[in-house]
Amino acid sequence: MIAVASPNIAFIKYWGKLDAQRDEDRNLATNPSFSLTLSKAQTRADVRRIKGDAHEILINEQAASAKDVAKISEHVTRVERALGHPAGHYRIETGNNFPAGAGIASSASAYAALSLALAGELVGEREAERFLGDRNAELSALARRGSGSAGRSVAGPYMRWDGAHATRFDSDWRLRDTILILSREHKAVPSSEGHKLVRTSPHFAARLGKVPERLAKVERAIRHRDLPSLGRVIEEEALELHRIARSGTPPVDYLLPETRRVLEAIEKLGHRNFFFTLDAGPNVHLISETSIAHEIEPLLARLGVQAEIWEDQAGDGPRLIK
Ligand code: PMV
Repeated sequence: MIAVASPNIAFIKYWGKLDAQRDEDRNLATNPSFSLTLSKAQTRADVRRIKGDAHEILINEQAASAKDVAKISEHVTRVERALGHPAGHYRIETGNNFPAGAGIASSASAYAALSLALAGELVGEREAERFLGDRNAELSALARRGSGSAGRSVAGPYMRWDGAHATRFDSDWRLRDTILILSREHKAVPSSEGHKLVRTSPHFAARLGKVPERLAKVERAIRHRDLPSLGRVIEEEALELHRIARSGTPPVDYLLPETRRVLEAIEKLGHRNFFFTLDAGPNVHLISETSIAHEIEPLLARLGVQAEIWEDQAGDGPRLIK
């Protein structure tokens, strides 16, 4: 079966995870988070049962690395067990329509698409649609065990993740995400490592106390379509993630000098109709109601900063293609 899923960008960040003794508890977050599911950026996963004695796994038309084969095989076993199916072998092809290392979290869309396509392959066409309906929480919990933030890529346009799975937060306010790709280099410290280091930061404990109020503000701002209120919270969140990373042991700086220049220039603008957020990487996500590329291009030119721009928008979450 084929499934298509999009990455998500967090407004309230998942940054820090709980210790897990069992696979069921893998990637449980230390705090609730909230995200926007993109629509244009997509991962397509095609999963077919095969007769052979091993999985055949292709990522972006290339044979997957040994490390990816191991991770994906583990996830396949996890989904089979959760759905009560005996172990099988599959041909798995996944591909992204967006550039790798662009600060667009491909593991989120990849594990959401893979979990849905595999679940669909196991339960059959008719039942599979339920993973996008009344069985969506189950799909979220499974995707989360593959990669934490993937649990938020199983529906849209907004998702709130608290505990074992994420839940859809409905709104017809379709915010945009304009991504300034300043670097395509893979980060030196993967987010899995960043999640472990949070406790070494003196700012982490205080952050946990601030999250519930910020989450309530985000939800209120979306309900009232109040972009400046939303903007204040998401910028605070993004800066805090990086403050925690920089103040941990060892300190990690995910930003580039160009990122700082862009952020400073944005903060100096008087009236703004867009607000920034960042993941654990140097690329800048700008959240707005309308298209802003024509405003951003001259700003980048003035700063002498080279960036590719990816324009995306909130969407409705994954789809099954039979
Ligand atoms: O799902 P992971 O382990 O790649 O963690 C993602 C963490 C951030 O992207 C930095 C924040 C988030 O909530 O997506």
